[in-house]
Amino acid sequence: MTVDVVILAAGKGTRMKSALPKVLHTLAGKPLLGHVLDTAQSLPDSAISVVIGHGGEQIRETYGQRPLHWVRQEQQLGTGHAVQQALPQLRPEARVLVLYGDVPLIKAATLQALLALVDHRAMALLTVNLANPQGYGRILRDRAGDVVAIVEEKDARPEQLAITEINTGVMAFPAGKLAAWLPRLDSNNAQGEYYLTDLVAVARADGCEVRALQGQDAVETEGVNSRGQLHQLERHYQRGLAAELMAQGVTIADADRFDCRGRLTCGEDTFIDINGVFTGEVVLGAGVSIGPNCVIGDAVIGDHVTINAHTVIEGPVTIESRVSVGPYARLRPGTVLRSGSRIGNFVETKKSDIGPGSKVNHLSYIGDTSIGADANVGAGTITCNYDGVNKLKTRIGDGAFIGSNSSLVAPVTVGAMATVAAGSTITRDVPDQQLAVARGRQKNIEAWQRPGKQQKD
Ligand code: UD1
Ligand code: MG
Repeated sequence: MTVDVVILAAGKGTRMKSALPKVLHTLAGKPLLGHVLDTAQSLPDSAISVVIGHGGEQIRETYGQRPLHWVRQEQQLGTGHAVQQALPQLRPEARVLVLYGDVPLIKAATLQALLALVDHRAMALLTVNLANPQGYGRILRDRAGDVVAIVEEKDARPEQLAITEINTGVMAFPAGKLAAWLPRLDSNNAQGEYYLTDLVAVARADGCEVRALQGQDAVETEGVNSRGQLHQLERHYQRGLAAELMAQGVTIADADRFDCRGRLTCGEDTFIDINGVFTGEVVLGAGVSIGPNCVIGDAVIGDHVTINAHTVIEGPVTIESRVSVGPYARLRPGTVLRSGSRIGNFVETKKSDIGPGSKVNHLSYIGDTSIGADANVGAGTITCNYDGVNKLKTRIGDGAFIGSNSSLVAPVTVGAMATVAAGSTITRDVPDQQLAVARGRQKNIEAWQRPGKQQKD
């Protein structure tokens, strides 16, 4: 089935009160339009036109890489006028599906069901029953129950306003008929606009059928007009993701304080405490524990890992099994933590491989470093990896012991089982098993007189 999707995104979105075009506001970290595009692109044999107007250039820049037809609507003269601008892009044999760029949660299965109702002499629309239909176009049916017209709220008579079945805005047409019907629209209505919704009456007048699909989930067709509505859809979406994870055996402390802005997969018996934010691709193994207030992006985390509170992971980061991280750790790109290793509080790592069983427990910066197995890096250790121009490597061997408050000036190697005395500044390699002491010698001064308080004159 050839499907030409027309996404309407030319409106201003005044109520967002924003410099950003409405369809570029994000839901779960992805622009509203991105959600619609991804769903539309998942339909087989689909081609997509996006009608842009307000903020059009910015929208185009954001999605310029995708194979889309960009259609400019210079003046926003109504939804019918908007679709008309896309007519030159439509394939004559296609079914044309009209979507809104600000209705992000519409599901592909619903669209497929709607498209299945379209044939060369029948159009289809998606309706839904709302307890409060205010603001929407109402569906008018005849005695036989057939849809005969849509009346916009501003044009409706009082008794029509009582109708609770509304037009979601999602419609589908045979392309040939759509091209014939659109020029017949006029703007003799309360808003002086060319209404796409008037095509229902036009289709009937043309002897064609209008088939309605009643949606079961109103949230799917909810649009974003304000930041309040955006917030509601965001929470709905996040609660849905949390529920899916729970069904897979994950405990989530509070679904209202869980945010996935990418893709998160988890093994069983994993626990996610409050205020977790997950971005990009995150994979958590089984029995993982994520403490409160952790921000985790693009990470693969093995089984039985504990990430303690307030940890920030900016991937790509790989963590093997039974590792403990944080609280207050920052793992930057290129960090690899091997099995059983530990990263403690106020430790920053970057492009570093921390060997199995090794520990960096407190207040350290480890960059461009490889650490072997079972090494201990003391509190306040700094790898001096940058000479102002180049990034240089530090190597720490198996079982090495780095005393607290040491600076390791790269490029430098500390051998296996070597020891660095606390407070050292290491500028030369330390051979295996040797002790390096690189600090001023302590001098004790006998009979030292503390200065007394000076007399003021
Ligand atoms: C429209 C429907 C209404 C339906 C409601 C569902 C019409 C006439 N009415 O009303 O029956 O219940 O959506 O939300 O279709 N747009 C353009 N160019 C334009 C006008 C609009 O691109 O000239 C875009 C907007 O950016 C928006 C969408 O079309 O994404 C809908 O426009 P909007 O003004 O919100 O229509 P409603 O009055 O809400
Ligand atoms: Mg609207």
